[in-house]
Amino acid sequence: MTRKLFIKTFGCQMNVYDSDRMADVLAPLDFTPVQTPEDADLVILNTCHIREKAAEKVYSDLGRLRAKQDERRLAGKGEMMIAVAGCVAQAEGREILRRAPYVNFVFGPQTYHRLPDLVREADLAGADKQSLNRVETDFPAEAKFDFLPEVSPSGPSAFLAVQEGCDKFCSFCVVPYTRGSEFSRPTADVIKEARILVAQGTREITLLGQNVNAYHGADGKGREWGLGRLIMGLAEIENLDRIRYTTSHPGDMDDALFAAHGEVPQLMPFLHLPVQSGSDRVLAAMNRRYTVDEYLRIVERLRKMRPDIVLASDFIVGYPGETQADFAATLKLVETVGYAQAYSFKYSARPGTPAAEMPDQVDGAIADARLAELQTMLNNQQTTFNRETVGRVLPVLFDRPGRHEGQIGGRSPFMQAVHVEADESLIGQIADVDIEICRAYSLAGRLIDGDESGAQNGIRRVCA
Ligand code: SAH
Ligand code: SF4
Ligand code: F3S
Repeated sequence: MTRKLFIKTFGCQMNVYDSDRMADVLAPLDFTPVQTPEDADLVILNTCHIREKAAEKVYSDLGRLRAKQDERRLAGKGEMMIAVAGCVAQAEGREILRRAPYVNFVFGPQTYHRLPDLVREADLAGADKQSLNRVETDFPAEAKFDFLPEVSPSGPSAFLAVQEGCDKFCSFCVVPYTRGSEFSRPTADVIKEARILVAQGTREITLLGQNVNAYHGADGKGREWGLGRLIMGLAEIENLDRIRYTTSHPGDMDDALFAAHGEVPQLMPFLHLPVQSGSDRVLAAMNRRYTVDEYLRIVERLRKMRPDIVLASDFIVGYPGETQADFAATLKLVETVGYAQAYSFKYSARPGTPAAEMPDQVDGAIADARLAELQTMLNNQQTTFNRETVGRVLPVLFDRPGRHEGQIGGRSPFMQAVHVEADESLIGQIADVDIEICRAYSLAGRLIDGDESGAQNGIRRVCA
């Protein structure tokens, strides 16, 4: 009998990828994904531990799920299984079962290939959670990727995990503890998965890793490929039109990767290269292992290799010991680089990380004010960049229906969301769009056909 599977994904793209793979692993057990937890036979929360807020959200969600689980049991509709996966599962393990004993089982990011066994055990235990009480959070010796089934179709734009884990130990970050040490998939496995995706209609692949440019996969001949070499290899796949990678660390930008930006047209001119802070003092305290000057030189070199490249970044404000002068240095860096997109966060002290133990924790209200100031600046830069693309013709990969009927949505090479009025049959295609309107976070335009030039069509262009 077909059962309904609802997976709620928190956190980064790696979790999005993992959630899809969980669905792949459960397909042979006749689980079909559904869009809401209502009536689901199995609900998996694939969680994120990066900031306190993200981690706490899990418990409020669990509270709501418990009510649904009770309702369903009372209505005689059988057991709704609840599982917690991802980075909170890894970090808190048994604590989750203590705080939420109605959870059936808990499993970490390295063990989801064992899901079928966990589900079978939960089936046997039924409502008797105590007899099950399973927490799978070891970092098993076998690589989980070897045990995963072939990827199922992922749409025009797909994620492909090439690397997992992190050995950098930035002082604020939980990832090295939740995802374990760095592991790179062998090149042949990555290329095979990419070929399967492309054969299923995928046109764009985003290579994923917590530290994706630390990739060092074995090629089967005793050699190791870095990410640059891997991208060159992937570029040979016919009909793979776009390649991206995320998230990268400035310290792992090597010559081959710079070269790939210059030589591989499929590698899109957009790079998310988190800097975190514009103060050398704070960067050192964060254990980021680069200076502002080194970061700026990387940006310069990227722009030399690929003049149209635009950058995105992550920032943390209110890191312990951050002074007003440190913060001013961050604003200065933002002004110098000019970002097309950015994520900025208020520092969140995470248990077990060195920064959480540091003196000089910054007052919350001061951090809030700094965050607001930084975000205003970053939003302005994003709007300025979007405005600059109005009037240009950009190739857009359409990957979804739009919000309104008759509309479809996609991405420009620079990761901007673009909407046009067009038939859904265009989803999965790349087409030229005359960009006419820019809104806060997206662009709208008109499909152009043949040699019609966007600059000559006389349409009034607006920018909100
Ligand atoms: N591997 C990536 C980042 C992964 S975490 C890198 O090295 O850049 C995603 C983002 O969350 C980070 O870039 C950082 O800006 C933010 N972040 C991580 N830990 C945080 C914390 N304790 N408080 C606030 N933001 C944090
Ligand atoms: Fe976290 Fe730093 Fe690793 Fe990024 S590089 S995942 S911020 S420890
Ligand atoms: Fe969050 Fe884990 Fe990703 S902590 S950001 S889900 S690696």
